[in-house]
Amino acid sequence: MRFRTLDDADLQGRRALVRVDLNVPMEDGQVSDDTRLRAAKPTVDKLRAGGAKVILLAHFDRPKGKVVPAMSLEPIVAPLGQVLGCPVAFAEDCIGSKAREAVAAMQPGDVLLLENVRFHAGEEANDAGFADAVAANGDLFVNDAFSAAHRAHATTVGLAHRLPAYAGEQMRLELDALDRALGHPERPVMGIVGGSKVSTKLDLLKHLVTKLDKLAIGGGMANTFLYAQGHDVGASYCEKELAETAREIIRLAGQNNCKLFLPLDIVVAEKLAPGAPARVRDVGSVDDDERILDAGPETVERLCRAMGNSKTLIWNGPLGVFEIPPFDKGTMEAARYAAELVKAGKLVAVAGGGDTVAALNAAGVADDFTFISTAGGAFLEWMEGKALPGVAALAQ
Ligand code: 3PG
Repeated sequence: MRFRTLDDADLQGRRALVRVDLNVPMEDGQVSDDTRLRAAKPTVDKLRAGGAKVILLAHFDRPKGKVVPAMSLEPIVAPLGQVLGCPVAFAEDCIGSKAREAVAAMQPGDVLLLENVRFHAGEEANDAGFADAVAANGDLFVNDAFSAAHRAHATTVGLAHRLPAYAGEQMRLELDALDRALGHPERPVMGIVGGSKVSTKLDLLKHLVTKLDKLAIGGGMANTFLYAQGHDVGASYCEKELAETAREIIRLAGQNNCKLFLPLDIVVAEKLAPGAPARVRDVGSVDDDERILDAGPETVERLCRAMGNSKTLIWNGPLGVFEIPPFDKGTMEAARYAAELVKAGKLVAVAGGGDTVAALNAAGVADDFTFISTAGGAFLEWMEGKALPGVAALAQ
């Protein structure tokens, strides 16, 4: 897909409306993970260096078209300024007189953050009047929020049809990395999909088996596949009603020459608690009161061998309950092995989705992966093969 980038833009003195994703996790009023703030910096730097006035548009949480003070972007201003290394002004509304006056006061190189765009119902409805009102404060539009590109909203899609539209630096990085992992990967390409529910990842699995050479299924969702193959899963989380769907995915994988890796052995315990006594069992020998909570050592070893024979890896979802040791072991070992392969120049490894990033951070290898997406839902939809409206709107 071709889109304009900031290298093509005349920036001096121009008002750049920049859609960023500042939907960051907060704990006790503090930003607890500033990854998305840092992701905004390259675009802001480039715009400032070119003499643009940088007007940041973002959402926070889901206020559903109403002003919800607890969802204001104001608490983000100071941490954002720190990360960007420059003062950030704030306007209490993203349209109307407050926004207009704040923009009018800007000098080239200044940065202004406008209040949560989702305080207006017109944002999520991609309402023409609202999009016009936002566009009135800009000369050009930069979309740097890949992680919100699965939403067809006024500030992700509407603005691209009203102003000359450009892909920001983070958007470019994300699209390049995802293309390298799944669009045009070096083969063999392997996927690891984990997490608890098959039901949320059906489209993903069905699409991936047509794209990948190998697919490892882990986490709670593997239990549904084991059950579908006739194995007893004891007291494990399992979506039994999806057994036929799991069998269909196994068939689809076979038809598409995608080698499926399901667990050979698993780690079980009677209760899920830190340090709970855990046992390794072969699949099919789980007692009634036992729960499957992690991939077993043989499974992880086979998975690592398969990664070693691959050129590209795309990873979404942990292999076990990685938040609660000792059930983090499978995910940690596989993540560390993937990182070693990347460092040795043998593997391109791309990962994304909320839990995945947290798991890779916990394993201390996030920086060693080739690319970690900042996106949750958008990463999943992209992996499902869906067109993302925010990306499509940038196409020339
Ligand atoms: C995210 O956190 O994944 C994005 O900011 C999108 O948020 P949303 O799911 O509320 O649209």
